Amino acid sequence: MLVAVSSAIVALLLIGVSLRRSPKRHVPVMLATIVSDLALVGWIEISARAVEKAASGTLHWGIYVHIGIATLCILGYVLAIVTGTKLLRDPASPVRRIHRANAIAVVLLRLSVLATTPGFLIVPAIPGSAS
Ligand code: HEM
Repeated sequence: MLVAVSSAIVALLLIGVSLRRSPKRHVPVMLATIVSDLALVGWIEISARAVEKAASGTLHWGIYVHIGIATLCILGYVLAIVTGTKLLRDPASPVRRIHRANAIAVVLLRLSVLATTPGFLIVPAIPGSAS
């Protein structure tokens, strides 16, 4: 279930990137992607007490890699909002290069978050958790 929702968010991210030439369509899709992804992280924390389990330091190392990549991805979302807002105000702004480079990083990071989801492809499931 979590993998299906996470995959749908990756699909939304890719749809949003494909709409990058049209701010009217690109911006709402990107904001929906970011809000859904943050809601997913919140849901995982509430339903699985993820932070407490991670803080125990007893999980598989792959799960800590997953958490690290996911944290970088959220920082990428923040940078996308900051640079995207500047681009909306001034389409000729040199910040476009940063927005573009950050977009490549966010897409790669988000695909890596999906690939390292516990119990999916690479990282084993957390005992007693849904994936
Ligand atoms: C993870 C989220 C995001 C990704 C991956 C992303 C990706 C991109 C990419 C690849 C471009 C094309 C840049 C170029 O080559 O010129 C672009 C353009 C743009 N993005 Fe984003 N973006 C994201 C979020 C946002 C957000 C949140 C906003 C606004 C608040 C935004 C506003 C814009 C604007 C205004 C443009 C310029 C469109 C144009 O050419 O007129 N983006 N984005």
